Amino acid sequence: SKATIGVTGLAVMGRNLARNIARHGHTVAVHNRTTERMTSLVEDHGDEGTFVPCETLEDLVAAIERPRAIIVMVKAGEGTDAVIDELVPLLDEDDIVVDCGNAHFADTRRREAALRDKGLHFVGCGVSGGEIGALEGPSIMPGGSDHAYQRLGPILESIAADVDGTPCCTHVGPDGAGHFVKMVHNGIEYADMQLIAEAYDLLRHRLHLSPAEIGDVFREWNEGDLESFLIELTGEVLGQLDPRDDQQAFVDVVLDQAEQKGTGRWTVQSALDLGVPVTGIAEATFARSLSGHAEQREAARREFADDQPQVDDPPGGQEQYVEDVRRALYASKVVAYAQGFDQIMAGSEEYGWDVDPGAMATIWRGGCIIRARFLDRIAESYSDDAALVSLLVAPYFADAVRDGLDSWRRVVADAAAAGVPTPAFSSSLAYFDALRADRLPAALIQGLRDNFGAHTYRRIDSGDDAFHLQWGGDRSEGPA
Ligand code: 6PG
Repeated sequence: SKATIGVTGLAVMGRNLARNIARHGHTVAVHNRTTERMTSLVEDHGDEGTFVPCETLEDLVAAIERPRAIIVMVKAGEGTDAVIDELVPLLDEDDIVVDCGNAHFADTRRREAALRDKGLHFVGCGVSGGEIGALEGPSIMPGGSDHAYQRLGPILESIAADVDGTPCCTHVGPDGAGHFVKMVHNGIEYADMQLIAEAYDLLRHRLHLSPAEIGDVFREWNEGDLESFLIELTGEVLGQLDPRDDQQAFVDVVLDQAEQKGTGRWTVQSALDLGVPVTGIAEATFARSLSGHAEQREAARREFADDQPQVDDPPGGQEQYVEDVRRALYASKVVAYAQGFDQIMAGSEEYGWDVDPGAMATIWRGGCIIRARFLDRIAESYSDDAALVSLLVAPYFADAVRDGLDSWRRVVADAAAAGVPTPAFSSSLAYFDALRADRLPAALIQGLRDNFGAHTYRRIDSGDDAFHLQWGGDRSEGPA
């Protein structure tokens, strides 16, 4: 009998996805450019389900029932285009090509349009959860046509993570919607990790706790509102010793330069285009870049070696400080997610995707890297108020931020005084204070723009009309 679905590209993610599909009772045709990867998959894991080994793309296409569904799991970029170009001439009307890699949503939009022109379907599908997630249940964010989802949905929902009986997979929206949402997921992942890293750094420098002790603090935090996969992993990483000698903390022997493959950068680039202030994600992305500028860091470290701020220990004592940092972390995290959801809504509006934010929070509750207890609260906030303008003003989160506000301010002020860099904590607080301000100094910026460049301004009392003041003349105001 024919396979329900095919997978081409059997590096670790593709391999694990194929196994996951087979384990759920679907017959899966498998193909890889170098055949050895395919044969070893079938040899090593053939007993987990029904695999149809395929040596060529022609074999793969012939093995799958129509309309065919073929998952492509290759390196994003040119690799994906090459496979699509090879595959498309072999396909028949209504067949579906699914790209489960971390593609840029603009590429997905282009590919979707190109395949649609040929009577085919292209599904850009975000998959989160790393290798283990792919095997045991990822969070899946498929875009593309309704028609394609009808064919794919049951398979994808069966292999996704499951939280309280709800699969962590839903049809996100047309064309690039799935990859866009996955991109923002990764941006939030960057912000989340930066916030965690700042919290660790503060506890280290202000309380002089050891990595292992801080690991214990994170383990404790993981029992409360902050409960999440990344907080749990932090406890694990901080508790680890150098595998070479079991003496030093692992975190102290790792080079302190954070790398990135690009999804965080894409998130920020897209946010700039959309005009969405994702300051937490941007600071997190820049913080990684900064960490990599070894030469500048070394020069500045030498230059300012004698300029350590002299500060006392945090005034409230250790317990109070740990609690302050926990609350500051939670409030900053709310800001990061609020910004990420703003970006999803702005992208949805711009590209006409009609993404349901509550559904995104729901499918992020399990399987993905940013899975966290508080995503339930985000889903609830959107179901209580579909037109919510910002997560920050949803009753639950407004209360949470209000409760943490004094701590947040104390931590950011103390960090500045002590010279501990907290770009994400600080910028999140600044974002919050800017949003809630009665008046912003943006008015002065408008005045300056009008003065030097006649860029005009609007008044608080004259609707949308633009005006220009005769700065070099009699200072009268006229219409623009
Ligand atoms: C996931 C992750 C994954 C991402 C890595 C690496 O959702 O499973 O987001 O897709 O590729 O986290 O990202 P960086 O190398 O850019 O940190």
